Amino acid sequence: MYFVANWKMYGNKADIDNSTSLISLSKLKKYKKHKIIYCPPYTLLKTFYDNIKKSNISIGAQNCHSNSDYGAFTGSINAKLIKSTGAKYIILGHSENRNTGESDLIINKKIHSAIKENLIIIYCIGEKLSEKRKKNTYKVLKKQLTKGLKGTKKFENIIIAYEPVWSIGTGIIPKNSELSRNINNIKKILAKLKKSINTKILYGGSVNPKNVRELAQIKEINGFLIGGASLSAKKFIDIIKKSIN
Ligand code: PGA
Repeated sequence: MYFVANWKMYGNKADIDNSTSLISLSKLKKYKKHKIIYCPPYTLLKTFYDNIKKSNISIGAQNCHSNSDYGAFTGSINAKLIKSTGAKYIILGHSENRNTGESDLIINKKIHSAIKENLIIIYCIGEKLSEKRKKNTYKVLKKQLTKGLKGTKKFENIIIAYEPVWSIGTGIIPKNSELSRNINNIKKILAKLKKSINTKILYGGSVNPKNVRELAQIKEINGFLIGGASLSAKKFIDIIKKSIN
């Protein structure tokens, strides 16, 4: 199982220090085969990496600029710069970035730039509430997968995170039946696009220690992308333990 902490625009050095309890957990036999990934803000990537170097935890970024090479892009960070911090993963296509105008085309460029740097991509897709109400979920997922992944071959480096936008930060999660259906549809779309059927699919949106046991029962889910709850090391550990036990 994958456990990805998305710290968004939160976190400081003290939070990194608190996460040392995760380092001990990651070394235990029971948890070794699972993947714990921290995605802090850019400014903490290197410090975080230095802290977890000797553990089974990995580091990831939350976004990058679409230009794969260095260039005159004031205030931007590209995949090359991210790679140089020691990060192994990158979250792309998060709805909070799509909301500010990030198109599938731009996301596709970012995905290609991350592949070039051998970063493992956590590609976020998901429908908005209005799209769900209009019964357009399948259509939206198909569009995001088709356009976002256009031209990708190295598919073993891509993980999909299904995050219904209406679930993010709201405390509302889909019913298990709805979640299974949407994840199976994602698998079908990937198969049609001739992408690997072994692609890992994570769920994200209001995952917390209270609801994770039920979510973890969905056999199609290979892990979780966790926002709010991941800022507390205690909650994050709780989520991991409850998913696996
Ligand atoms: P949340 O965020 O767990 O706070 O809902 C998830 C995400 O945005 O990836």
